[in-house]
Amino acid sequence: MVIKAIQYNDFGNEEVLDLVTVEAQVLLDHQVRVRVCSVGLNPIDYKIFEGVKQLRMLSFFTKLRHPSKWFESKKSLFPRGVGRDFSGIICEVGKGVSNFSVGDEVFGTIISAPGLGTKKGALATEICVSETEIALMPKNIDFDHAATMGVAALTVGGAFRKIGLSKDDTIVISAASGGIGSIAVQYAVSMGATVLGIASKQNADYLKSLGAIPIAYGENVKDSILAATSKPITKLLDCYGREYVDLGFELGLKGENIGTLVPSPSVILRGAKFTGPRHSNYDDFITMSNLVSNGDVSIHLDKVYDFSLSDIKEAYKELRMGHTKGKKVVKIEQ
Ligand SMILES: NC(=O)c1ccc[n+]([C@@H]2O[C@H](COP(=O)([O-])OP(=O)(O)OC[C@H]3O[C@@H](n4cnc5c(N)ncnc54)[C@H](OP(=O)(O)O)[C@@H]3O)[C@@H](O)[C@H]2O)c1
Repeated sequence: MVIKAIQYNDFGNEEVLDLVTVEAQVLLDHQVRVRVCSVGLNPIDYKIFEGVKQLRMLSFFTKLRHPSKWFESKKSLFPRGVGRDFSGIICEVGKGVSNFSVGDEVFGTIISAPGLGTKKGALATEICVSETEIALMPKNIDFDHAATMGVAALTVGGAFRKIGLSKDDTIVISAASGGIGSIAVQYAVSMGATVLGIASKQNADYLKSLGAIPIAYGENVKDSILAATSKPITKLLDCYGREYVDLGFELGLKGENIGTLVPSPSVILRGAKFTGPRHSNYDDFITMSNLVSNGDVSIHLDKVYDFSLSDIKEAYKELRMGHTKGKKVVKIEQ
């Protein structure tokens, strides 16, 4: 049996990607085979196919420890798949799987060590994944929307756990109209927290529709925040980068109350928390699913692309520009 998949054989920009026909994976114990219907895109996808530093370092140290790998390293690292988040229908169940059956409609994400990625990718007509990487799809959404939930569920669930978000908090969230931020805003609002979301002026109405007080990025962000609420800011979740961790400290927060999804050495030295899926657990899938089922979280689709090489290259180019509203999705017609 053959499948179609996006793969690459060297690190680089979108031009390294290829659409290939390959043998389907062998189904292992505790895995299910999923006929993929849609794939949600995340910035981590392109960070990985560009060759994040950790991946290059891992490969270098492996070669130091096993000199023969200097000659076979490409074979061991490549070809690699692309993409993590998916939705689809289970078409085969492996030994030891107890919670899922053939025909179940599921969403999920391919889990790897932080920053490293895996050899398999979600951008394929079929994938084999562990039952701990999937959950049943909420009944009220379609495959395109469900495909965006995996990384977001683990990231937001993990981050809010790490910074101890509660209903009494007033939280600032940066990049609040993006793939993670837009879900984090609604999640925090559903908990009862007061949320200030930072994005461009153009997204102010969108942020309001999510339940946040909109704050435009640019100059005087701190003053805008202080003018927008009389409540003291108690937490900050940064979905953009270091400047917003600095903002958290300027607002008087301690490092333990600042979470960032985008680490840098200075952020960590100052005591802010690098967080996300690393602080998640399986229940975060279920929590997200319930939030979507009861309408507390709705997902905005920025754009839906075809499962063609040209569309996928274009999708990642656009995602990299950093102004996605909600999530980008690739639909896999089968
Ligand atoms: N720690 C982890 O494991 C983990 C997990 C998930 C994600 N992440 C990282 O978290 C980041 C966000 O992911 P994402 O999927 O949400 O990305 P995304 O969808 O591409 O984020 C786009 C958002 O960034 C906003 N933005 C652009 N320029 C900004 C600025 N100068 N200040 C504030 N916001 C700005 C955009 O607002 P406008 O459109 O209004 O400009 C939009 O809301 C990425 O770097 C990703 O790799 C890390």
